[in-house]
Amino acid sequence: MKKHRHVYEFFRDDHPSLGIILGSGLNDLLDSVDIRKKLPYSDIPDFPRSTVKGHEGAFVSGSIDHISVLAARGRFHYYEGYDLGEVLSIVRSFHELGIQHVVVTNAAGLIDPGHQPGDILLIRDCIDMTGQVKEFDPGLAKLRKAEETPAKHAAKDAGIELGEGVYVWTTGPSYETPAEIEYFRSRGGDLVGMSTMPEIMWARRNGMKVYPFSCATNWAAGMAPHPLTHEEVYETARRVRKDLTRYILTLSRHIGG
Ligand code: HPA
Repeated sequence: MKKHRHVYEFFRDDHPSLGIILGSGLNDLLDSVDIRKKLPYSDIPDFPRSTVKGHEGAFVSGSIDHISVLAARGRFHYYEGYDLGEVLSIVRSFHELGIQHVVVTNAAGLIDPGHQPGDILLIRDCIDMTGQVKEFDPGLAKLRKAEETPAKHAAKDAGIELGEGVYVWTTGPSYETPAEIEYFRSRGGDLVGMSTMPEIMWARRNGMKVYPFSCATNWAAGMAPHPLTHEEVYETARRVRKDLTRYILTLSRHIGG
């Protein structure tokens, strides 16, 4: 029995092979792609709703060259009051449609001083600060060779300097304290954000290949002389959009071709 039957029936004739989750400020990343169909989350019975500014809240399907893609504009977070099942609704829908590859994007705070806000980093592993994914094998958070290789080749082809780092998952909704960021850095964290880790683990557990990226939108708390604001996060996401779009289009061809 398909849990998200409505999504399945709406998109099954598109036969999507690649799913893309677009994070904060990155919703219109695929505007250059011809959109075939659109399904707002609010039209799906029993589906969560996006409550976050900058998250449109819709699935859109289209093609990148000959590859059929399904993109989720906006995702669900713990801090919106959703449980793990609801947070996973998008990847579950992808899986029900037979999608084998998932690109996951997010906006994240940068902890690693070796990068700059505006850089794009491949997530090579995660640290769970929420205690919400204990049922998953911890090894599922780690990037696989078969995912890393196309991600790096695509970066070279697209002329993108792709960093990599360890993503720290927090529940939010508030940003961190400087002392928390100091602690995360001392434990090996490079990026911090409020999403992505459960989607990565669930998708890998269900046999999908996952290509997870952070757009480093801001210095993490305490690392810049000015206080951190939502505006800064959206402003950087907007600035990086062109590069990230080019990269995702190139990556799609590497994965699908
Ligand atoms: N912390 C947590 N989540 C975020 C941040 C941050 O600094 N920036 C964007 N999402």
